[in-house]
Amino acid sequence: MSKGFFISCAIDYPNAKLHMGHLYEKTIADAIARVHRLNGEKVLFTVGSDEHGEKVEKAAKAAGYSTTQYIDNMAMQFGGLFDQALISYDRFIRTNEPDHVKAAQAFFQAMFDADDIYPDLYEGWYCVSDETFWTEKDTILKDDGKRYCPNTHCGKLVERVKEESYFFKWSNFQKPLEEWYAKNPSNVFPDFRKNEMENFMKNGLHDISFSRKSIQWGIQVPFNPEHTIYVWGDALVNYLTVCGYPGKYSDFWPADIHVVGHDINRFHSLLWPAMLLSAKVPLPKQILVHGFINDENGEKMSKSKGNVVDPAIILQKFGIEPIRYYLLREVPLGNDLAFAEKNLIERNNSELADGLGNLVYRVLSMLEKYCNGVVPKVKLDAQILGQSSVSAQEAYKLYLSHDLQNALIQTWKVVNVGNKAIADSEPWKKMKEGKRDEVEVLLATEVELLRQLSILIQPVLPLASQSICDQFHFPKPQFSHLSTSHVPSAHAVKKGSVLFVKRDLPLVEEK
Ligand code: MSP
Repeated sequence: MSKGFFISCAIDYPNAKLHMGHLYEKTIADAIARVHRLNGEKVLFTVGSDEHGEKVEKAAKAAGYSTTQYIDNMAMQFGGLFDQALISYDRFIRTNEPDHVKAAQAFFQAMFDADDIYPDLYEGWYCVSDETFWTEKDTILKDDGKRYCPNTHCGKLVERVKEESYFFKWSNFQKPLEEWYAKNPSNVFPDFRKNEMENFMKNGLHDISFSRKSIQWGIQVPFNPEHTIYVWGDALVNYLTVCGYPGKYSDFWPADIHVVGHDINRFHSLLWPAMLLSAKVPLPKQILVHGFINDENGEKMSKSKGNVVDPAIILQKFGIEPIRYYLLREVPLGNDLAFAEKNLIERNNSELADGLGNLVYRVLSMLEKYCNGVVPKVKLDAQILGQSSVSAQEAYKLYLSHDLQNALIQTWKVVNVGNKAIADSEPWKKMKEGKRDEVEVLLATEVELLRQLSILIQPVLPLASQSICDQFHFPKPQFSHLSTSHVPSAHAVKKGSVLFVKRDLPLVEEK
């Protein structure tokens, strides 16, 4: 039996509420997971929470809860948001679960057995916020005499650490990683992110501290309970836990895609593959590195600036589907996105409400008015179908290559063909002129376009797709039905509520 399609998201730190950036990542992965389900594949799609380490322990203390109470509550909140956002995950993995503890320990043991883990003394700097070790020359020394994290997305104060530690021989894997990069052109997507990793490798990979003696909130090193496994050495293994490691894990492994933000690309594209090579586990096929969601001026979201986009607020204002559409339509995967409500509203009003929503509404209204709510059983208009099917097929191919933005652009060409055909033929005039036959051909053809659209929009707009299927009694969407008509002939339709509501644009403040 062929291996199922496995797509994972980064597991989020439960030290704070999730923001629009976290939801962006899950939405990308969700759309891709839905594409592969529509394609008839068995899919495993995972999200989760990364619950160990100093950062989470400190956050629990600050919130006044026990660490376990705190992480239980946060995991519930994360899951709640993902459900509301229609993230169709198959598993929400928590690194505090017993099966993950077992997997992380087995994996650490495998690396030790391969002679890639050794005891030494770590002396250097540590960024709690990023859970990253830094050498002194990496850190940024500011005028206040203190050292700060060099990661542009972090920049927080680093702390001095001196303790016994087990190290991972990252340096052992320089050559095999270079080979993996050379032989697999799309192992890291997009190319400019791959180049960044190759440049980093050029400076040489250095062994990395892989356990903490002073941190208790973590998974114990299997052969020395005085140490806990470095939080990244624990978290990355989640991708294997969900596949059944250390038992049989080949139903879904190797992962097809790990979806991550560029701040954690190095952990996924250089450290994780080295760990896998050490433990003799096959490497993932692709690390898909997405851009960041910034505020509307393109600035990094941060609590101190007060510009964090809270998904709960946006969701309440607009409902989830306009947000999903906006996030995936606005920029190519890999680029940063300046989140602006104005742009979201514009897309909602023109492409969703006036475009797709209006098409569905007009076709249903005319079917009710002119055809007693029954789709006429006539030969379809080959010219209209010819125009739309080029775009429909193109959209399908683009979805399969995970180019979500262009897949939506092609899909909306089908919407436009449908709307233009109605505007051009003016069926209301034709009815007055007694040309019912022509109107019937047009409407039946429009129903066929909508049937194709119910499939093509499903990865991004699952609710709208469901609503169209319900109103027209279309079968459950699947890509294999795209080119062959599956409309039951002479079937009745039933108009439901409008798909998308138009919104007012925010008032522009006078300067
Ligand atoms: N816990 C680690 C990941 C471990 S995966 C084995 C972590 N967590 S995080 O909560 O800080 O980030 C989770 C994901 O959200 C990461 O992929 C990160 O890049 C992404 N994002 C965080 N802020 C973001 C934006 N502003 N925009 C888009 N995604 C961003 O890192």
